[in-house]
Amino acid sequence: MSARKSEHSRKKEKIVSDRVNRLSPSGIRKFFDLLASIEGVISLGVGEPDFATPWHISEAAVRSLERGYTMYTSNSGMPELREETARYLKDKYNIKYEPSGEILITVGVSEAMDLAMRAILNPGDEVIMPDPHYVAYDSCVILAGGEPVLVPTSQENNFEVEAKDIEARITDKTRAILIGYPANPTGAVMSRKKLLAIADVAKRHNLLVVSDEIYARLVYGVEHTCFASLPGVRENTILLGGFSKAYAMTGWRIGYAVAPKEIITAMTKIHQYTIMSAPTMAQVAAIEALKTGESSVMEMVEDYDRRRKIIVKGLGDIGLSCFEPKGAFYAFPSIAVTGMTSEDFSEKLLMEEKVAVVPGSAFGDCGEGYVRCCYATSLADIEEALTRMKRFVKKYSK
Ligand SMILES: Cc1ncc(COP(=O)(O)O)c(C=O)c1O
Repeated sequence: MSARKSEHSRKKEKIVSDRVNRLSPSGIRKFFDLLASIEGVISLGVGEPDFATPWHISEAAVRSLERGYTMYTSNSGMPELREETARYLKDKYNIKYEPSGEILITVGVSEAMDLAMRAILNPGDEVIMPDPHYVAYDSCVILAGGEPVLVPTSQENNFEVEAKDIEARITDKTRAILIGYPANPTGAVMSRKKLLAIADVAKRHNLLVVSDEIYARLVYGVEHTCFASLPGVRENTILLGGFSKAYAMTGWRIGYAVAPKEIITAMTKIHQYTIMSAPTMAQVAAIEALKTGESSVMEMVEDYDRRRKIIVKGLGDIGLSCFEPKGAFYAFPSIAVTGMTSEDFSEKLLMEEKVAVVPGSAFGDCGEGYVRCCYATSLADIEEALTRMKRFVKKYSK
């Protein structure tokens, strides 16, 4: 039996490319498959807003469908959306990008990340990124033939990645630095000072910086610094942004990449053969979001902030020490008091108390000993989850 099994897995390995075989299944997905089979679960798991897309944004798309606006758009995206994106980036961060040539509209930051890596990497090129990090970062690098190089970060450093630790890992194969702040899974926000130090390293070593700023709008009491706006790095930076989180538009699948023309041209080449153009109705909705969505964003941010304060205090009160997340919508408490691995903790918590969190190990080795709790869920659910977690932690505390 086992001989047959190994024969089977050998065959499978041959069918599937080495690159894909190297990827481990997303630790998050595995968890949600389990969760789907259990009733009455409170989920602090999925990283998406619990708000519906503000109606005036959805309505713009509905109207466009009624008018029969259902064709492909230009590969780069609708000119009006690229213009609005350029205006938005200028207004918010005082950076200037040409709508024609320096902006590409994508199927979310997910596609933009994949395109960026495929556009810039040759086989064996290294990309330096923090650990823990969003699950797609190392996978996109591997799929593009590159090698992820991880820089440990820790609660003691507020999960901010240090320029000196990045610099220590630069080799003659290093091609890029990949950062994503505000961060998933930690909620960390990088200070301008620390980003300036990374900018300095990138400039001195002539490295590209891919900056995933999907959570840029979700910051609490601190300013988000757009990496591309720092002095002297515009030419080295690929800025990725999107609508999923700030405008509660995860299902619309829409985002953008902005970068110097040579890079956007390369990314557009891949995009035109694999995607053609981002969904037309989603582009219409994104235009509306940029034009009239600001007050909705502010309202949602205020609401997340209320929940953030409650969950961080609540986790601390039940003995799960939690660094204060200043961005995104995640708390990342330490589970050290239980002595469990993050996977054990998450699985037992789900089975015994029906609360879903994501094991920190899903985001890299430095995520071990932590769990990710998404607080983009109702206050009532957050409070009930905390009550259940309190019972659980009490039972298993050493
Ligand atoms: C850090 C980060 N980047 C990118 C994405 C994907 O974003 P999009 O919906 O724009 O593809 C996510 C989604 O959870 C994320 O957390």
